Amino acid sequence: MNIVKTDLFEEVVEFVRQQFDEPDAFIPLHVPRFEGKEREYVMDAIDSTFVSSVGAYVDKFEEMMCQITGAKHATATVNGTSALHTALLLAGVEKRDEVITQPLTFVATANAIAYTGAKPVFVDVDRDTMGLSPYKLKRFLTETLIRQDDNWINRFTGKRIAACVPMHTFGLPARVDEIREICDRYDIPLIEDSAESLGSTWKGRHTGGFGTMGVFSFNGNKTVTAGGGGAIITDDEELAKRAKHITTTAKKPHKWEYVHDEIGYNYRMPNLNAALACAQLEQLDTYIENKRKLADSYREFFNSKEIEFIGEIESAKSNYWLNAVCLEDREQRDQFLAYTNEHGVMTRPIWCLMNKLEMFKESQTGDLSNAEWLEDRIVNIPSSVRL
Ligand SMILES: Cc1ncc(COP(=O)(O)O)c(C=O)c1O
Repeated sequence: MNIVKTDLFEEVVEFVRQQFDEPDAFIPLHVPRFEGKEREYVMDAIDSTFVSSVGAYVDKFEEMMCQITGAKHATATVNGTSALHTALLLAGVEKRDEVITQPLTFVATANAIAYTGAKPVFVDVDRDTMGLSPYKLKRFLTETLIRQDDNWINRFTGKRIAACVPMHTFGLPARVDEIREICDRYDIPLIEDSAESLGSTWKGRHTGGFGTMGVFSFNGNKTVTAGGGGAIITDDEELAKRAKHITTTAKKPHKWEYVHDEIGYNYRMPNLNAALACAQLEQLDTYIENKRKLADSYREFFNSKEIEFIGEIESAKSNYWLNAVCLEDREQRDQFLAYTNEHGVMTRPIWCLMNKLEMFKESQTGDLSNAEWLEDRIVNIPSSVRL
């Protein structure tokens, strides 16, 4: 049994408090800041009466997302989950298909796959990026797929792998160019779950831009928030048009007729939320600079205490949405969580692996040794943009 390192944990609490200049108050994990033009833009949207799903701020938000990510097209959605669901449908994922993702992710990734009727298949992550491992993906596909009638089929289930959805964990980019190369070899569409990685780049290119589509979240806990919101980015004009169409109840454009040509969804981002998001996006660079400084301080402090800080690897630039440290084992992780939370510093463990959740426990998995190792050790520490 580990001896509880009370002195060390006390130093951690003290250090976190210093970073946020809060000697006594509760320190949350991540809170939004509204110090730009949020009020002005939201009031402007209200005054315009365009508070719902069309309006100037939705258009502006989509343009800003193209500028930030370098994508040719962006479609605003009501949240990141609906953006993922839409992207999967547009990639052609159907009932009875399978979709590869990582077991170490927020439940929304696997849920969105399940909404299409397809089954998630879980392939391991890399320990350093905590994102889908190209090495494990390659091994899994080599062992699993066979060629049948011009299609790659899962030899164990007889199903088609219809998409691959890596996730950029806590803003740290996965090795997405290598993942792309492997997917291309097997004609598997790549959809990046970049919900957490707005502002993060891999080899100088924005995350979300490597696959057929990339998806973002603007939930209240993200680097930039719309209150609730999402976006799909793509360079494919046809996909962008289809994204707008099916997120707008598949209504055919007409001045007054209500004709819908397929089952569509009410997944549009309201103008009110887009107004908030535009003001927030204007501050993205400042936020990231601020967050990266905090990550530098954490790295130096934790490394001096022999606790591993999970930093970006070569080729990656992280937005450091949520900072993470790696404890010795699950027992020490639990002691760290208990001490910090009892002393007013909010910390959280990484997610329970998707393949352990009731609804996904029948899913096929590869060897998940890295994800299991990380699940026992990773803890998120306070990461808000500091004033
Ligand atoms: C990895 C990941 N995917 C998807 C989502 C879903 O986004 P939203 O909450 O906006 O639906 C989130 C965040 O909440 C997330 O962290």
